[in-house]
Amino acid sequence: KDATTGFEKVILREPRGSSAEILLFGGQVTSWKNERGEELLFLSSKAIFKPPKAVRGGIPVCFPQFGGQGSLEQHGFARNRLWKIVESSSPLPSVDSDKFSLINNSTKAIVELMLTPSEEDMKIWPHKFELRLRVALSSGGGLTMTVKVNNKDTKQFSFTFALHTYLSVADITEVRVEGLETLDYLDNLKSGERSTEQGDAITFDNELDRVYLSTPSKIAVVDHEKKRTFVLKKDGLPDLVVWNPWERKAKQMVDFGDDEYKYMLCVEAAAVEKPIVVRPEEEWTARQELSAVSSSYSSGP
Ligand code: BG6
Repeated sequence: KDATTGFEKVILREPRGSSAEILLFGGQVTSWKNERGEELLFLSSKAIFKPPKAVRGGIPVCFPQFGGQGSLEQHGFARNRLWKIVESSSPLPSVDSDKFSLINNSTKAIVELMLTPSEEDMKIWPHKFELRLRVALSSGGGLTMTVKVNNKDTKQFSFTFALHTYLSVADITEVRVEGLETLDYLDNLKSGERSTEQGDAITFDNELDRVYLSTPSKIAVVDHEKKRTFVLKKDGLPDLVVWNPWERKAKQMVDFGDDEYKYMLCVEAAAVEKPIVVRPEEEWTARQELSAVSSSYSSGP
């Protein structure tokens, strides 16, 4: 249990010093630190740790819906349900100070969580499923998340999905997102109107809320101020949502500090435009791999 929030969490530690924290509430990664102990994810100082409110920051899982269409709640219910631990990196985890802390001295620290629907959930989304999330920290400090959705029902179902990653940045006005040039996107600020990206990188000087379509499997987020580049590699999640609320929206969110928009950027590997269809007894799987490289090391000769 986390002393301040009272939420149960799993802590993954990797021998070289990087770490990650995953809440059972939402199956949500809320911290990912590099070897130097620097936090790489944004978590709002105003985040509310009180169900059913989803926690603002980290990496919420949006399932069975991305967005707010129809009768389902915005971004689905997986992010505010309690998940279970189904597997951890060692069969008998050595227990750290925290009951759920897992330490592994091999190359990877892993935890797998699962969400299955309650009777109440079945009333709002009448499909039996198993949603699994495997979070692995590699020896280089990379964070890999593997998602699986199994259809345990007798009928097929469909859903949209996102790993809603909040990256921590030093100054949003000095950030560029590379890999989305010339792509089509749906503009959530214009009721989902379709446009084509004209710039050679995305930069930020205002609110932005877009779903880039059929994006490449590798995207880079360059944080000039921090001299850090995040690399997001993904598989099975064709779209990429890019979101920054900017000043006005920030003020409207109770669980987000007024000036915190300067220090975060959401880049969300997603399947939005074309819903995923899973037939009975079948499985859908997707993956995202995040790494953070310091530009002072990566810039070659
Ligand atoms: C983004 C959406 O992914 O999530 C935005 O594109 C939305 O439109 C944002 O505002 C935050 O959503 P929520 O439900 O966590 O406040």
